[in-house]
Amino acid sequence: MCGISGAVLETGDVGPILYDSLKRLEYRGYDSVGEAAVVNGRIVVKKDVGKIDQVERQLRISDLPGNIGIGHTRWATHGAPSQENAHPHTDCKGTVAVVHNGIIENYMELKQELESKGHVLKSRTDTEIVAHLVEENLKRQFGFVDAVRQAAKRLTGAYALALICANEPDKIVCVRKESPLVIGVGISANYLASDISAFLPRTKNAMLLEDDEMAVLTCDRIRVMKVETGEEVTRKPFGVEWSVETATKGGFPHFMLKEINEQPLTVRNALRTQPIYLELMASAMNRAKRIFLLACGTSYHACLAASYAFANLAKVGVTPVIASEFIDAYGALIDSDTVVLTVSQSGETADTLTAVRGAKDRGATILGLTNVMGSTLTRLSDVYIGQNSGPEMGVAATKTFTAQYAVLIKIVVALARKRNTANPKDLQRLEDGFNHLPEWISTTLSTQDDNVRRIVQKNSDKGSFCFLGRGVSVATALEGRLKLLELSYLPAIAYPAGESKHGFISVVEEGYPVLFVAPKDEAYPKIIGNVMEMKARRAQVLSLVEGDDSQVASLSDETIQMPNGIPPPLTPIVFIVPLQLFAYRMAVTKGYDPDFPRNLAKSVTVH
Ligand code: F6R
Repeated sequence: MCGISGAVLETGDVGPILYDSLKRLEYRGYDSVGEAAVVNGRIVVKKDVGKIDQVERQLRISDLPGNIGIGHTRWATHGAPSQENAHPHTDCKGTVAVVHNGIIENYMELKQELESKGHVLKSRTDTEIVAHLVEENLKRQFGFVDAVRQAAKRLTGAYALALICANEPDKIVCVRKESPLVIGVGISANYLASDISAFLPRTKNAMLLEDDEMAVLTCDRIRVMKVETGEEVTRKPFGVEWSVETATKGGFPHFMLKEINEQPLTVRNALRTQPIYLELMASAMNRAKRIFLLACGTSYHACLAASYAFANLAKVGVTPVIASEFIDAYGALIDSDTVVLTVSQSGETADTLTAVRGAKDRGATILGLTNVMGSTLTRLSDVYIGQNSGPEMGVAATKTFTAQYAVLIKIVVALARKRNTANPKDLQRLEDGFNHLPEWISTTLSTQDDNVRRIVQKNSDKGSFCFLGRGVSVATALEGRLKLLELSYLPAIAYPAGESKHGFISVVEEGYPVLFVAPKDEAYPKIIGNVMEMKARRAQVLSLVEGDDSQVASLSDETIQMPNGIPPPLTPIVFIVPLQLFAYRMAVTKGYDPDFPRNLAKSVTVH
């Protein structure tokens, strides 16, 4: 999740305007920053690795002259944070500059094609190929706008792109597909950005671009057109009522709620992981004698959930371990036949890194899954994957959990295919399920938030909650419990439902709230018995059930209705969403700030 911006002015310099807009977009990414402008008929680029103020001190990006320019603040996906990988990127001749937010899935094949035609690519990003594709089209006598349009037609994936060209120094061309892009309509000036907050101090009139549309911005005109046909589209601007703060949170009152609502997009982005990295990880795991999944907190819950799929689909036993216990519990078993797949959103968690170093010292192969490219985990890993969630501002992990788990299941599928261990029909069902995930999450958000809010209101005086699940839903229950306790400071409990009768059940008395995570998977028949056990003790039963489930629903005091037919390994990604909302709404109802729970840090860098 990077931030892009652009400005075309009748008079004046874009440098200070781009700098100001990038500061407002910094929350979308902050590992490197850059600007490009057309100055005296040439493209001038200033860019470097570092936070915006650091780069400003070094390069004075706010001094960039020229009345047309583009800017970028980066959250690395392809290629570590570095000067070469910072945007804007240019073509061979420096005639075209581009900034990009998103993921271009077919960049490897396009890169090979461009290199075979003699193009020299300087970065390791997926973005740079766009500048070179446009360069190719300019050679073929296309004008700038058509050169961009033809280039966009070759891209698959998600992208918001903005480009300038020295040959046509009066316009910015931008393109949108599945990544945010908004146009700001000014007076004798027009703007574009990843979100409205970037240009709000300059104009309160905005225009949206839809997927597969592009726009040509000059200082006095905005032309919107379809990428496929070039046909012009009539689009009216609208007035923006938001304050800058609300706009930064996408109109939501808290970052956490914004991030919960981003999940249809962030899960889709996670699923865009390049197959080559999945393949590398699957190969390493296939060779290993022992495999551990290592993490803390929410990331550990993603590992725990994934361990079920590793066993059931790839027929591989993996051991999920809490990082702080790893060396004490398993140090004696780690050797060069060991693979440690380490999951850390921040890539900087001290307990996780210590365990990784301990495993590395004993000769293990380290695989990393993280949201922060360039983090220590990426440097310690033999192979790593970036989960593409963009910065998570809320301290509680939400969108990064669902993205981590989505990537882990992709690794399972790659391993199962390699080992030929899964029924092809099951794998196909899972692949189809990947495509439906964004829609299942969206439906859950739109149909269940009010229901969750109502259930929270009714139960806001309860002193404790218990979350129960079976099979893969144990991890969902544990994660739902963690969200509730860290945000509402309630001593919540979570158990494998089958284990609840071995102790926990003595806590249950009339009205005690027990929340069941009950998808219709293989564990379903048994969970009905556990629900009955709780009912018999007059617990208040709250259940997450599939829409067509009348059995658990009829035994429950309250139900949260989930979409039908989610393939069992994917249920944690959708079933966790109402539990995130539950924790969020409970914290807000109690008057706590869900973005900054007490005593917690986003990245725990102490032991
Ligand atoms: C809970 C939460 C923490 C983190 C844990 C590990 O909402 O965010 O439990 O999951 O501190 O952090 P990472 O994944 O950065 O290693």
